[in-house]
Amino acid sequence: MHPDPSTPTLSADADWWREAVVYQIYIRSFADGNGDGVGDLAGIRSRLPYLAELGVDAVWITPFYPSPMADHGYDVADPRDVEPVFGDLAGFDALLADAHLLGLRVTIDLVPNHTSDHHEWFRAALASPPGSAERARYLFRDGRGPDGAEPPNNWPSVFGGPAWTRVPDGQWYLHLFAPEQPDLDFTNPEVLADLETTMRFWLDRGVDGFRIDVAHGMAKPEGLPDMVPTSDTGLLADHGPGDLRFDQDAVHVVHRRIRTVLDEYPRSMAVGEVWVSDDARLAQYLRADELQLAFNFKLLSAEWEPDALRDAVTHSLAAVAETPAPACWVLSNHDRSRHVSRYGGGPVGLRRARAAALLQLALPGAAYLYNGDELGLPDVDLPDEVLQDPVWERSGRTQRGRDACRVPVPWSGSEPPYGFSSRRDTWLPMPEGWAGLTAEVQAGNPASMQSLYRSALALRRSSQAFTGDLEWLPAAEGCLAFRRTGGLACLVNLSGAPVPLPEGRVLLASADVGGGTLPDDAAVWLHA
Ligand code: GLC
Repeated sequence: MHPDPSTPTLSADADWWREAVVYQIYIRSFADGNGDGVGDLAGIRSRLPYLAELGVDAVWITPFYPSPMADHGYDVADPRDVEPVFGDLAGFDALLADAHLLGLRVTIDLVPNHTSDHHEWFRAALASPPGSAERARYLFRDGRGPDGAEPPNNWPSVFGGPAWTRVPDGQWYLHLFAPEQPDLDFTNPEVLADLETTMRFWLDRGVDGFRIDVAHGMAKPEGLPDMVPTSDTGLLADHGPGDLRFDQDAVHVVHRRIRTVLDEYPRSMAVGEVWVSDDARLAQYLRADELQLAFNFKLLSAEWEPDALRDAVTHSLAAVAETPAPACWVLSNHDRSRHVSRYGGGPVGLRRARAAALLQLALPGAAYLYNGDELGLPDVDLPDEVLQDPVWERSGRTQRGRDACRVPVPWSGSEPPYGFSSRRDTWLPMPEGWAGLTAEVQAGNPASMQSLYRSALALRRSSQAFTGDLEWLPAAEGCLAFRRTGGLACLVNLSGAPVPLPEGRVLLASADVGGGTLPDDAAVWLHA
């Protein structure tokens, strides 16, 4: 039985995503329902009431499709089924139905750029000769140099090492990520048609939209020419002009096709992972017939520094200004250091993260939270022997990768696994000392990060003050101040000293403003 996506608990608003707060669930690390130490769909389902109470509008669940887990699910062997470690299709349908009853929309990851090397297409490609139709779904090429022993071009993989791997008959195939993630050839109509089939498969089940992985990938330049070598070509680099692996004009053909499908499903949407920093280039992905949203990675990348933050906001608003899209703010995700740690860690990082939450949630547009943001989780210092991210091995153990921000979420109790699982031995170890960070402890503490998020989300949802455009206000050196047309004013203090509170009724503050001043590394919301 498939839930009706128009169930009465969900608003009928076609553009629900414009101001939505979406909670990213990194499935391996959110909640383990079956006690194997890995998060799963049953775990998510059991925690949906928590998310509804927290006050988010939707969730984004990272890939839960059959996968050999070379990149923890971003290597998809079958995009239209569920990985047994995570559950099954019936379990997904049940989760979806429950979420909708609670008024939560469910969006899922779409990974178009590549498949797993275990995908039946890739197995068929390996079993077929060069020049075959089976190989033409991927990017197989002959090598260069004597005997074709050198890769077809000089592209590096985002995870380190060359972007090409040679197969026994001498040809090479392209993989912008791990060798276990061969890139598809989007000039092949069969590839695009299959993406459409995948979208319909999930939309027909009732999902509300997609997060599109590597949405600036997919299209490759004609002839696959060499690119100008640059010093940083990794996951977090700016894939700007000159990086021929990404942001090719033909990618927009794919996005228009994706949008055509979405337009057949009222209230569905897509948000793109578009690592393109040029405002005008980014704006192209947000044209009326392309993506509804694109993550704003400028805020995610900005230091805790007033000019950097103001610049991030200004650029992100400028990028969307000429498009139908709102901005889309994100502070942390499963690929980046958690912002508590990025901002300095410890009590300082936590204070700044509280302020950043009020900054993020006051900005016009959609906001994405990463699981654990609401608990103020920091990165975890993991020992070498437990690291799992392919980046670690592929970089010759020079880059630790992304495991530090992927440690499971602590729910309750005073020691690992803190209610995440019934099994102590979780897929990434959970640290000692997190008893004070659990969701359960924080729920009972009005001064906790979770309580701050609950209050902020409730206000944002219920108050008209959070509507309209942003106007910067004059502010003391080291401070950011802006107002929304609806009446909300937000002041963030990074000046190093307390500043007087502006006029207005205090709605919420990230620190004590009792004395009429806003402390350093704090933010306040006021109704002007
Ligand atoms: C995206 C994902 C990342 C993954 C990569 C390859 O950047 O966010 O986690 O490793 O794509 O699919």
